[in-house]
Amino acid sequence: MPRQFFVGGNFKMNPASLAAKRSLLSALAGAELDPATEVVVAPPALYLLPAQAILRSAGSPVKLAAQNCSQEKDGAFTGEISPLQLADAEIPYVILGHSERRTLFGESSALVAAKTRAALAAGLRVILCVGETLAEREAGSTLAVVSAQLRAAVDVLDAGSWEKVVVAYEPVWAIGTGKVASAAQAQEVHKEVRAFLAAEVTPGVADATRVIYGGSVSAKNCAELAAQPDIDGFLVGGASLKPEFVQIVNVNRK
Ligand code: PGA
Repeated sequence: MPRQFFVGGNFKMNPASLAAKRSLLSALAGAELDPATEVVVAPPALYLLPAQAILRSAGSPVKLAAQNCSQEKDGAFTGEISPLQLADAEIPYVILGHSERRTLFGESSALVAAKTRAALAAGLRVILCVGETLAEREAGSTLAVVSAQLRAAVDVLDAGSWEKVVVAYEPVWAIGTGKVASAAQAQEVHKEVRAFLAAEVTPGVADATRVIYGGSVSAKNCAELAAQPDIDGFLVGGASLKPEFVQIVNVNRK
């Protein structure tokens, strides 16, 4: 089975108003999107339910993701959102381990793995982010860093769970910097991610798991990246807030 192309839009803590959010989502719901591509957008948690109402009333196939969730089911965890609550609200996806969570909020790979396990147990699908910093790339440790981040998840998930995981390779130095990884640099890591999954989970899982690229993806650079054999889509930050997001979604459209 070929892997279905996947494009995610990570709105991060943007835009600043519900009105702006409405117009962004209405434009997306009204756009002609490649039906062969799975499209998922991640607004801030506060806007997930209004976004769901907008997309549903427009009959849009665009799905929603939360940008984070707790590893706990319920209880005294002020400020957190449980994966069970996301599932109950019919939000199908959650982004976990984004580099901004890892670096700005101190999330370790073990915590990201625990969250991944909890989210999958709640019935969510997970966009699991991995990626190296510039210093790590320059030290030649890209593959070691990415493997260690994946290893934490492999250690707590059974092989069957990977069906609901999309791996996002996002080199930290490419996120929000306008400095995109070259198609060859991205393909090299994606191929290694697949080899890692083949060796550490199963070859079947490696073959079926979508490995998407994130980091300054734009309408200009997406076609060359999408043409790489191991790049199965994108996680888009800044450009997901702009009309060019539709062009990125439609990159494979004939
Ligand atoms: P960017 O962000 O496209 O703005 O670089 C990507 C991401 O953080 O997922």
